[in-house]
Amino acid sequence: MSTDYNHIFNQHWTIYQKILQHDYMGHQAVFALLEGSLVTHFADQSLDLLDIGCGDAQTLAAFLQTSNLCSYTGIDLSKEALELVPKNVGSLNCAVTLMNDDFVAAIEQLTLEQAGQFDVIFSGFALHHVQDDMKAALFAKIKQLLKPHGRFYLIDVYQQEGESRAAYLDRYLAPTFTHWHALDEHEIELLNTHVRSSDYPSTRTKLESMAGDAGFTDCECLLADPTHSNILLSMGKY
Ligand SMILES: C[S@@+](CC[C@H](N)C(=O)[O-])C[C@H]1O[C@@H](n2cnc3c(N)ncnc32)[C@H](O)[C@@H]1O
Repeated sequence: MSTDYNHIFNQHWTIYQKILQHDYMGHQAVFALLEGSLVTHFADQSLDLLDIGCGDAQTLAAFLQTSNLCSYTGIDLSKEALELVPKNVGSLNCAVTLMNDDFVAAIEQLTLEQAGQFDVIFSGFALHHVQDDMKAALFAKIKQLLKPHGRFYLIDVYQQEGESRAAYLDRYLAPTFTHWHALDEHEIELLNTHVRSSDYPSTRTKLESMAGDAGFTDCECLLADPTHSNILLSMGKY
């Protein structure tokens, strides 16, 4: 899984940049909701933020302009993507720490060294690369990393209740052939191969029960968009 990700995101980072440029995955709408929630929950507060599977952080940074960041910590397997982070988060004027590692290992390391030190933990379109049991374990670790009153925001793809993974993959990938015209045939093939081998989205019910099992208090679903298969969950510690 990790090797495949390094491949697609190191050698084909341009594919993801095209996807962002044309908003094929619906980043703009879901990140706008995230921005609104951050303003509601953390108005005038200086934030220590952890970004799990940050990529090049370009979309998150654009939607953090209304927040006040003290520090930004990003974890990603892709060295090429991480190299772009300092420029993309530069306008946030905060301390930047980057961890070029698998997020499972990096989160484990952070729970030993920085438990209770983040106000906001965010993960965008990354946790679906691990299966439900690992996701559930990560939710528990993420809660340990938060300060009291901190929040975890999860943006990810999600599967419909009762839908098989095979049916999800066919449904999710269909528009890559019919609507994602900015990608050429080779790029579409690479993307399909990657998604079919690496994506393990959970259902909304499953994600919400993971939040409850990890001890998060007020898990809110701010978006469940079946068209893009995007979900935004916001959950608090105490
Ligand atoms: C679809 S991109 C999302 C990037 C960004 N968070 C966003 O919302 O646009 C997924 C990112 O997760 C990273 N990733 C996937 N699996 C990972 C893992 N096990 N450990 C660390 N990073 C991982 C990839 O390298 C990639 O940059």
